[in-house]
Order: sequence, then C-alpha cells, then structure tokens
Amino acid sequence: MTGQTMTNTTADLTPLNITEIDPFIDLKAEIERLRKKRNAVILAHFYQDPEIQDIADFVGDSLDLSRKAANTDADVIAFCGVRFMAETAKILSPEKTVILPDMEAGCSLEDSCQPDEFKAFREEHPDHISLTYINCSAEVKALSDIIVTSSNAEAIISQIPRDQPILFAPDKYLGGYLAKKSGRDMTLWQGTCIVHEQFSERELIKLKAETPGAPIAAHPECPDHILRHADHVGSTSSILNYVVEDPADTFIIATEPHIIHQMQMRAPNKTFIGAPANDGECNCNNCPFMELNTLDKLYLALANMAPQIEVDEDIRVRALDSVQRMLDMSPAAKPIPTTKPGADEAAA
Ligand code: 13P
Ligand code: SF4
Repeated sequence: MTGQTMTNTTADLTPLNITEIDPFIDLKAEIERLRKKRNAVILAHFYQDPEIQDIADFVGDSLDLSRKAANTDADVIAFCGVRFMAETAKILSPEKTVILPDMEAGCSLEDSCQPDEFKAFREEHPDHISLTYINCSAEVKALSDIIVTSSNAEAIISQIPRDQPILFAPDKYLGGYLAKKSGRDMTLWQGTCIVHEQFSERELIKLKAETPGAPIAAHPECPDHILRHADHVGSTSSILNYVVEDPADTFIIATEPHIIHQMQMRAPNKTFIGAPANDGECNCNNCPFMELNTLDKLYLALANMAPQIEVDEDIRVRALDSVQRMLDMSPAAKPIPTTKPGADEAAA
C-alpha cells in the first residue's frame, strides 16, 4: 500500500481516451501519476490481486471501505472491488467521481436478489424488519431497512428488539449463521456466494488431519458444514485479526485466498493454507468477479475516467437511509494488528 495522503486540491478530471496500453510504460508509475493528477484515492478489498492491494491507499473489508469512501476528501474514488462496493461509495459520496476498473465485477449474491422479487418478499412479510447484507444492488438497499456487513451484523441485530421478526437477504448461509448465534427469528432469502460454497468438507477434514494443531478460520458466507469445523468465524478483517493474534503458527483459511497476501505481510513468520475445494486443490476459490479488476484496467480507468458508477438519485437517497443506519449502529473501527514492524502505518 502506498499510504499516501491527498495533496493535490485542483484535480484534472479530463478523460484521456486511451484505448491501448503502450507496452513500454511503467504501469505502476503511470497509475501513481494519474492518482495525483485526479486527486484520487485507490480503495481495494482484501480479495483483490496482491499487485492491486500493494498500490492501494487503503485495503479493507466491506465496512471499512464504506467508511473510507464516506470520509475521503479525494475527488475521485478508484474502487478496486466489486460493483456493489463501488455503488455503496457513490451512495455515501455522491459528489465524488467513483470509477471501477471493470463494470462486470458483480457478485453472485447481488445477482440472486433482484429488486422486484425482493420487493415481493418484503410485501409477504409486512411485520418484519429487513436486514440486508451489503452484497446487493443499490435498488435492493433502497428497499431495505438496515444494511449490514459480516463485521457488524451481530452488533446490529443485538440492537433490534427481541420480539421483532427479521428478514435477512440475500445470503442464506450468513443469515443461518446469524440466526443460530443470536437465537433470533429470521426469515432468509436463499442466495449464496459461489466462492464460499465451493469448499469441500471432506477435503477440509483430510487437510486438518494432515496439519494437526492448525486452527481453521472461516468466513460466515461458508455453508454450515464448513463453519462447524471452524475455530474462528468472522469477516475478512476479523479473520485477519485472529490469525495475527492467535499464537498458532499455521492456519487453514476458508475464504477467498487473495486475503492470504495480507496475512503474510502482517504475520510473516506464520503459514497460511487455503481450504480446499471439491477437487482437493488449495487456493482454487478465487472470486471470478474480483479477478476482473487488473492493474491494466485500473490504469485505463484512471486515464479515461471510466467506467463510472452512476446511481439514480431517488434510489441513492433511499439507499443512503439504510446504509447510514448501518454506519450509525456499527461498533467503532479497530485497526488490524500486525506482528511486522511498520505495517500498521501502511494500512492507516
Ligand atoms: P467482508 O470483507 O465484509 O468480510 O466481505 C466479504 C465479501 O464477500 C466481499 O464480497
Ligand atoms: Fe460476491 Fe462471493 Fe465474490 Fe464476495 S467472494 S464478491 S460474496 S461472489
């Protein structure tokens, strides 16, 4: 991560209309030059390719990225993540230009929950409050009462009166995990993450036997047959915290494997093994949507100021209500620890 702060207050936002990348340019230096010219902040999710994580100004989970997007004084947010994350940045900071390297970077959870079907789901349960995972479209956010991420969902549920029934969409596994943990009456939308549902219980049990003493850390988007073997279940930042702070020296990681790059930077003396999928291969659960973003496309997006995220103003204002409620009900942000000297400053 560059960790650089914005200094240029007169951003030049003129598109350059570049269609082909000159093979002789220094791509990282050009991205840096454009970052300054545009007064842009580069935000990246932990599931992005390491070369994108390393040039970002901030790398984080869905909640922390929303907070950064809400508070940045940059003119341009170059969002290296998936579309719903960039849309959330636009919902929170409509005056900023938000660019996404590849507009096709979607999410299977978002795809599973179309606004008209979600509206009907709400109408079938008029007495329910709707808690919706941030992995959904702006339209679905506009139809929801409170947005949650896997970092803050438990804390937000604990603030809702116990006799209030809850609708949870779109992730049935995260919803099932939260219902079990909170003991609450929750009606679940039946969406899944195509990445986290790939992990194989049989292969995980085999790997655990081969690496005795290695704790398993899993994201709650995993199905219950994976979560029941986990020593720690949490959001990406919670998993990072856990592997840095736990005294074990080897961990099995059941989430998108690009996060292992952050683990290796923050705890360089520990070993991290990606949980296997059905074919027994480790680290084969890459998110196909996150992978669409590349350094080339980030460079072109900064050069051409496109593709840009646009959200219809009526939808944005209604979506802001549910996103702002999430931010107001979330516990305060905590920095992720590191065992490597100096790494905390880079993440700030
Ligand atoms: P978090 O980073 O909030 O844990 O979310 C994981 C995820 O699937 C993002 O798409
Ligand atoms: Fe969506 Fe799953 Fe990819 Fe996250 S990892 S963006 S939930 S498909």
